[in-house]
Amino acid sequence: MGALGCPAGRRRRRAGPHVSARPVEPRVEVLLDPDWASGSLVEDVRRGLGGLPRRLPPKWLYDDVGARLFDEITRLPEYYPTEAERSILAEHAVDIAAACDASTLVELGSGTSDKTRTLLDAFRAPDRPGGSLRRFVPVDVSDATLREAASMLSERYPGLAVEAVVGDFTLHLGRLPRGDRRMVAFLGSTIGNFYREERAAFLGALADSLDTGEWLLLGTDLVKDEGRLLAAYDDSAGVTERFIRNCLTVVNRELGADFDPGAFSYAPLWDRRMERVDMRLRAEEDQHVTVPGAGLEIDVAAGEEIRVEISTKFRFAGIRDELAEAGFSVTQSWTDAAGDFALTLARRD
Ligand code: SAH
Ligand code: AVI
Repeated sequence: MGALGCPAGRRRRRAGPHVSARPVEPRVEVLLDPDWASGSLVEDVRRGLGGLPRRLPPKWLYDDVGARLFDEITRLPEYYPTEAERSILAEHAVDIAAACDASTLVELGSGTSDKTRTLLDAFRAPDRPGGSLRRFVPVDVSDATLREAASMLSERYPGLAVEAVVGDFTLHLGRLPRGDRRMVAFLGSTIGNFYREERAAFLGALADSLDTGEWLLLGTDLVKDEGRLLAAYDDSAGVTERFIRNCLTVVNRELGADFDPGAFSYAPLWDRRMERVDMRLRAEEDQHVTVPGAGLEIDVAAGEEIRVEISTKFRFAGIRDELAEAGFSVTQSWTDAAGDFALTLARRD
């Protein structure tokens, strides 16, 4: 298997109101090695599950099943970030498009690119001061989701060059297409899924990959009431729990491991000091787990936890300072009416 959940070359097309007689196929560049899903996972499993505290990077949550579960999460009544960010885009996409001179939009961790259409509409408007957007580059590890989104978008926006990249934004920023003035959109508060030091490294690498004057549009979920935060990550329908637990199924499938996902309970907590939701799986009983593909055998004691994902929440001053440290200057920020979420436009110094 190449990328996560990726039968090579698979394409699905969704009919929509803008289907043209001869839709232009999007270009899809695959930067992940054919054995990435097993190869890179081996290192992460050896390092992350072999030592203490046990952890797995969240990119392994997004195989086909995980991508579908995340899509379900975005529609849960408790999960406010998607709708909050969508409402900012509905209100301010035109302002964002007018405030920058980008002619290529790169989207990292693009997923279904659902909200991004509002941004594309604004960038493609004939009266946009900076002229029309020429190219859209969605980047994601989830191959099938990316291909489906890219096909849908190239049908919907004839004349827009859609150049999808199946890639890992922790590895491949230096290989993104250059030329034109670019804006990188990193939406959904996916930046919150990095630990603090990973976030600094990511922002630094992103700044290095951009030329002076190019743009970053960053979506960040804001610190708020603990009850709402925990409800968003511990929904009553149990979808988030299934999403988090799915990482064990991925390790079982890719590396022949014998994790019993049912022997772990979902244990999310709000870490007040670090201002992040910490999503963990807690062993319900002592377990001996073999991971043949990683040459690993581990004893997990009852009560021991695997840290699967964090979701950091932000404050304006912190966003500005972290961006400045990496080499970006904030141009403008927007929030939704409830002040739940922020979109920040920043320029590479
Ligand atoms: N931007 C969308 C999706 C967010 S979900 C939104 O705002 O709703 C996070 C997305 O990032 C998923 O599509 C996942 O497949 C992708 N992703 C996670 N880790 C990644 C990595 N290291 N490199 C590239 N994509 C990644
Ligand atoms: C993709 N990311 C921003 C989501 C979040 O809110 O941190 C992932 C997620 N995990 C559980 N629910 C949603």
